[in-house]
Amino acid sequence: MQDRTNNLPIGIFDSGIGGMTVVRAMARLLPQESIYYFGDTIRCPYGPRPLEQVRRFALQIGHWLDQQQIKLLVIACNTATAAALTELQQELDIPVLGVIMPGARAATQATQNRRVAVIGTKATIESGLYAESIRTLDAGITVFSTATPLFVEIAESGLKLDRNPVETFMSRLTSVYTRPALQEIARDYLDPLKRCQVDTLVLGCTHYPLLRPLIETIMGPRVAIISSADEVAADVAGLLRRRELFNDGSAPATRQFATTAVDLPEFMHLATAILGHVVDRVRQVDLTELGA
Ligand code: DGL
Repeated sequence: MQDRTNNLPIGIFDSGIGGMTVVRAMARLLPQESIYYFGDTIRCPYGPRPLEQVRRFALQIGHWLDQQQIKLLVIACNTATAAALTELQQELDIPVLGVIMPGARAATQATQNRRVAVIGTKATIESGLYAESIRTLDAGITVFSTATPLFVEIAESGLKLDRNPVETFMSRLTSVYTRPALQEIARDYLDPLKRCQVDTLVLGCTHYPLLRPLIETIMGPRVAIISSADEVAADVAGLLRRRELFNDGSAPATRQFATTAVDLPEFMHLATAILGHVVDRVRQVDLTELGA
């Protein structure tokens, strides 16, 4: 039984542009679904902030998106998932999904030697939620977690420098943007994890899929790389199927964007680069409108 709810968009939010990697994965898997994306660029990064503060931001955005009429909410930010998934599930009447459990589940399925690494922001790693989720699924897995906060900066600044589609940026990343200093940062972060002989690495931040070629090069071909963006898209598909919430196709799929960013042309450029189609309309949302 379908009703008008089925035609509502899926709400997705992140601290900035990282959640666009989730939009991209979702648009590939579920092209018939409408999406309403919110990027809290003015308060990005969330990673170095206390979880309590991130929780407040996430609740403001979750309620705002809910008021725009969405059928489902995806917290496309690991930090905000760690801070506010439970609260948003309690406070909203729509289903709410985070990115941590899907990534944790994929990691338990991928590992052969049961040694898994997780990288993420300081707040995500300190929350311990990835390790807890992985060990809930398989208590025998050893989890090695490392905060890699500079990766957010590297991804953002690389994208800002490059005026090309993100695929070009990604394929040229190691030769063009990864100056020795950046290579060194990545090696400093990842070499200790390699020495732990992990066979699986979870990209526990939605910005990190943008750095995948760099991370893969350092980790080598024997390490499976798990992107929570792809995993959550698959989970959304499963949830829409179970709840019979698929768009019935009576209206074309739409893509709406809102942000707290001050520099809208830059936000549109970054969105265009990641999504591979032109984003030329973005709603600017003032923090007071969020109730901040
Ligand atoms: N994209 C966010 C995440 O997945 C991190 C970026 C930030 O620090 O705001 O955790």
